[in-house]
Amino acid sequence: MTTAPAEDGDDVRIRRAVQADLLAVLRIERASFDQPWPFSAFERYLGDPGFLVAVTNEESAGYFDGDGDESVVGYVVANLVPNHGRAFGHVKDIAVHPDYRGEGIGAGLLDRALTVLGTRGAQSVKLEVRASNDRAVSLYRDFDFEYLRTIPRYYDDGEDALILVVDLDE
Ligand SMILES: CC(C)(COP(=O)(O)OP(=O)(O)OC[C@H]1O[C@@H](n2cnc3c(N)ncnc32)[C@H](O)[C@@H]1OP(=O)(O)O)[C@@H](O)C(=O)NCCC(=O)NCCS
Repeated sequence: MTTAPAEDGDDVRIRRAVQADLLAVLRIERASFDQPWPFSAFERYLGDPGFLVAVTNEESAGYFDGDGDESVVGYVVANLVPNHGRAFGHVKDIAVHPDYRGEGIGAGLLDRALTVLGTRGAQSVKLEVRASNDRAVSLYRDFDFEYLRTIPRYYDDGEDALILVVDLDE
């Protein structure tokens, strides 16, 4: 299990998402995006090895679900897309609870997701990001993602998406 540092010394662990995590995931999603995924979208990826959550035992943290002793403070949804024998990975969603950003949790989630995708045969991984999302772009650049192209007006509010790609073989 990957352990990411947290500011107050509490460990943040990364594990696969389970059904009991979904409400907390949905709350973080709604706090993070103007056009959040619906509950059913997360449900669809349950059981996928690339649907991971970051959790802490700190009760006041994130969204304590009352079902156990963990709070979800972030998540990533990534999957493998078959492509004529050369599978590629797709990071579809990633977010960290607003109070926990800037502590390395996003990087920990992305690192683990890329490892999962690489282990399962992805040679490259792509994602879409809002052109104005400097923080996310900066995170992806840290992981050697490179600009591929722009999709004009990709988002419902008319903003462009940048397609970024990283080659895992390099
Ligand atoms: C993008 C997001 C997941 C990053 O998670 P995080 O836990 O804050 O990120 P980390 O602490 O691991 O930081 C990783 C990198 O992100 C960038 N970053 C983090 N905080 C930043 C800030 N305040 N300003 C600019 N860049 C920042 C940096 O490149 C940082 O690397 P560094 O620490 O070596 O400088 C988080 O900001 C978030 O949930 N944003 C809202 C949802 C979102 O936009 N998701 C991406 C959709 S494509």
